[in-house]
Amino acid sequence: MNIEAQTHVGEIATLYPLATRVLARHQIGYCCEGGTTLEEACQKRSLDSATIIEEMRGEVEKTNDSETRWDQAPLDELINHILVTYHEPLREELPRLEAMALRVEHVHGDKMPAILPELARVVTALKAELEQHMMKEEQILFPLVLQGESVMIDCPIKVMEQEHDSASQALQKLRSLTNEYTVPEGACNTWRALWHGLAALETDLHHHIHLENNILFPRALNPGAA
Ligand SMILES: [Fe+2]
Ligand SMILES: [Fe+2]
Repeated sequence: MNIEAQTHVGEIATLYPLATRVLARHQIGYCCEGGTTLEEACQKRSLDSATIIEEMRGEVEKTNDSETRWDQAPLDELINHILVTYHEPLREELPRLEAMALRVEHVHGDKMPAILPELARVVTALKAELEQHMMKEEQILFPLVLQGESVMIDCPIKVMEQEHDSASQALQKLRSLTNEYTVPEGACNTWRALWHGLAALETDLHHHIHLENNILFPRALNPGAA
């Protein structure tokens, strides 16, 4: 494993997919923050980069899982992986999360009036944003990439990246509203399921955005490289 303090976080996630477990554990964003060095990301969170590198080494070396190197796989396989692993499950999960957020707000809103209505609003807006976003990727951007188009995609990619930033901000807001996904005492089953579902959404969306921002888009824009 060849990771140094000056290695970019997005590059770490690309070269060593299993290391993302450690990044996620320490809340180090590797999707929209992919251009930051590990050192900068650690400093921001008062972490020691050498300790984090050791932890990643443990994670990468302890398992025999052969995670696919998406920077090397054919682009059509990468796109198919994104669609099957992330887009399709999101289509089912987003309405479920929205329904739970609205239900918890409706039933328990008076217990946390500063949190639950705002949470329901953020989840509803994120669902609408992501559904539109995936539609644009599926109907416009991904077909152009598959046709080998590398010039006309510049503008749609910029838009997709801005939308990824917006989704990341919504995830940060959700993390703060849920007090880092700490289930409140006495929470009902729906409330618990909502907190777990939102935490899983965060993990999946970070990886989904990483695959697009740090691997798919640069490869599509520069098909000659790598
Ligand atoms: Fe996507
Ligand atoms: Fe996307």
